[in-house]
Amino acid sequence: MTYTEFLPSEYAKTVSEGKVTYRAPSNIALVKYWGKKEDQIPANPSISFTLDACATTTALTYSKLAEKGSGFSFELLFEGKDKPDFRPKIEAFFNRIESYLPFLKDYHLKIETSNSFPHSSGIASSASGMAALALCLMHIEKQLDPSINEEFFDQKASFLARLGSGSACRSIEGDLVQWGYHKGIPASSDLFAVKYPFPVHEVFHKYHDTILLVDKGQKQVSSTIGHNLMHGHPFAEQRFSQAHENITKLKEVFATGNLKGFIEVVESEALTLHAMMMTSMPYFILMKPNTLKIIEKIWQFRSTSKTHLCFTLDAGANVHVLYPQEEKEKVHQFIKDELVAYCENGQYICDRIGFGAKLLLP
Ligand code: DP6
Repeated sequence: MTYTEFLPSEYAKTVSEGKVTYRAPSNIALVKYWGKKEDQIPANPSISFTLDACATTTALTYSKLAEKGSGFSFELLFEGKDKPDFRPKIEAFFNRIESYLPFLKDYHLKIETSNSFPHSSGIASSASGMAALALCLMHIEKQLDPSINEEFFDQKASFLARLGSGSACRSIEGDLVQWGYHKGIPASSDLFAVKYPFPVHEVFHKYHDTILLVDKGQKQVSSTIGHNLMHGHPFAEQRFSQAHENITKLKEVFATGNLKGFIEVVESEALTLHAMMMTSMPYFILMKPNTLKIIEKIWQFRSTSKTHLCFTLDAGANVHVLYPQEEKEKVHQFIKDELVAYCENGQYICDRIGFGAKLLLP
């Protein structure tokens, strides 16, 4: 597929108004996307678990304008309130996708959005938020062109979501999702994410992710800036090849249920992501002292309890604790006894692997 396949020809139908609601989940990368080229093309492939509880719900009401506007006509409500500081991001998103959705300026759009997780949790809502909005927009396109099939619908939603935020393209469909070309994964593409196409051992069907909220404050360095610092980074090329190798390693891990192999790749990826931040110019550190305390505790507990919990990190101080369903009781107890003390106000979120976005209405 090339991007031209997402450029629509004339629409068969006209639609004057309607409303659609989607719920799209967040996702946590196992192999990390860090570094990108023009037009939101990732510098390396990534793979993620889709989450279940952490999600954004977006309702989009659309009504046709008397005549096409010169700009985008939209209003934005976040948790019921006007959110002017979100407007530039949405405006930039609309500009990037307009050629793929040429009807955008024909409608007034009312976007009402809310997150299942607390606003100030330090959990980025851009993945779930952009995915939910992209799906709502695809719903309008499907009204205009009813011949669009389910596969193309999801692919184009992922393609559009990527243009809003890279990781958002992994929040459309599937429990294990791959984005970015990899020679061993058929149909993998830099343009959109695909459901992981090979059989996956049952231990990974019910994985848990408990998100420890170590620091709920605003990040000092945005992901977009971080990605850009991979240009001219001294370790960039090695890092990008390592991501390819790690996806190859995970293929064996997913097929056989090799938890030791899983832990090795996932923790190494998390630390490499932060190592890239620490070795860019300018350099920065997003981990906090409590992030490291938690990592040490996880390593100690894993060796004494013979369980298989491991950690991963996103671009922040929070720690995602990943573990199989069978070890849930033991790990929960450990989290309560030993890790909650390192969370800001003792807060954490219990999540698990989910299966992708859902149409809620109509
Ligand atoms: C560390 O998707 O937030 O979470 O494309 O600039 O919006 P933009 O970046 P974003 O980057 C996510 C980076 C990450 C790793 C990952 O999710 O793969």
